[in-house]
Amino acid sequence: MNVHTVTVALGQRSYPVWVGPGLLADHARWRAMLRGRHVLVVSNTTVAPLYLPRVSAGLDGMHWSSHVLDDGEAHKTLANVDGVLGALATLGATRDACVLALGGGVVGDLAGFSAACWMRGIDFVQMPTTLLAMVDASVGGKTGVNLPAGKNLVGAFHQPRAVVADIGTLESLPEREYRAGLAEVVKAACIGDRAFFTWLEDHVDAIVARDRHALLEMISRAIRFKADVVQRDEAEHGVRALLNFGHTFAHALEAISGYRLLLHGEAVAIGMVLAAHLSEHLGMSAPVARHRLARLLQKFSLPVTMPPGVEPMALLELMRLDKKNTADALRMILWRGIGRVEIVDTVGEAVVLGTLEHAGQQVGGN
Ligand code: NAD
Ligand code: GLY
Repeated sequence: MNVHTVTVALGQRSYPVWVGPGLLADHARWRAMLRGRHVLVVSNTTVAPLYLPRVSAGLDGMHWSSHVLDDGEAHKTLANVDGVLGALATLGATRDACVLALGGGVVGDLAGFSAACWMRGIDFVQMPTTLLAMVDASVGGKTGVNLPAGKNLVGAFHQPRAVVADIGTLESLPEREYRAGLAEVVKAACIGDRAFFTWLEDHVDAIVARDRHALLEMISRAIRFKADVVQRDEAEHGVRALLNFGHTFAHALEAISGYRLLLHGEAVAIGMVLAAHLSEHLGMSAPVARHRLARLLQKFSLPVTMPPGVEPMALLELMRLDKKNTADALRMILWRGIGRVEIVDTVGEAVVLGTLEHAGQQVGGN
């Protein structure tokens, strides 16, 4: 099977994203990206036993070591950045050292941020092993960790030197994580690629079955879309904010459930349907588009309704805290239909509350 290459074109910091099966074992390909002799592989306790041997087999002759984090979002902390920096110090890593981030978005964000900090910035290569990390987190250079005060509050833009998306690793990914990743794929199609949305509708069975041909096509298309957005607006001064479609609702839903009930992708699925609902209330879109979105998400077994017991007012209060808001109105990413998303800076709280109350009864319904 072919390997697809998507280039993220950022001048001297351009890099390839390779998508295909067997890439972790394609040592010659990714080793060509290593400039020096020092390599630190960062992974976690779930992924390292599965895939670290495959990567380390390619590090013969290098001065390398590994640093294995505990698994979970709760470990995306500054204390663990300190641990990675300590491992780089122990390795004697020089300016030309490289960090290999082997895992999902948690490992990628933390390892990437550590690479951005060590000696004011060294190379890192993303080796994403979740669908979400392949189509979103590993591409675009956002790195960082959480603080007790909130998610992703400390970070840096630091582009990887390459992304090695070995789709074979998705075979071991738990079903729920896989489906949560599909929400971000649907998001990409909703934002700016109507043809991709139709392609997803037409290939539901193959996608759910993780057919390799379907995976290769789907992941490459989602990455091409993200690369294009990042190229146009690397530092999120404009169009990159569109990638947050569904996210203002999603972050509030995650927070209200104490980050335990919903995976991020599940919250994004509900959030996108709520954003579609709100768009209707503002006269921007028709119900038919929302129904189509909800149908596709449901075929991927993703939730499209608010979890029971969520109070609209409590959700609105959390949405007010979103860092994208201005003083007296909510800043939301809304749509005019599939593939046509826009930033609206002036969404009044009353219409949001009305939408939540209405949607609480019938999100995705009539
Ligand atoms: P994750 O990294 O926690 O991975 C999910 C689970 O799957 C973990 O338990 C992990 O150990 C396990 N896992 C990973 N690969 C596996 C495999 N191949 N087989 C079996 N198990 C495997 O979560 P995620 O969804 O990949 O990423 C979420 C994180 O990504 C969040 O911290 C989020 O903030 C961040 N993120 C960053 C960006 C960005 O642009 N930097 C974008 C989106 C999300
Ligand atoms: N995941 C959003 C972004 O990369 O900008």
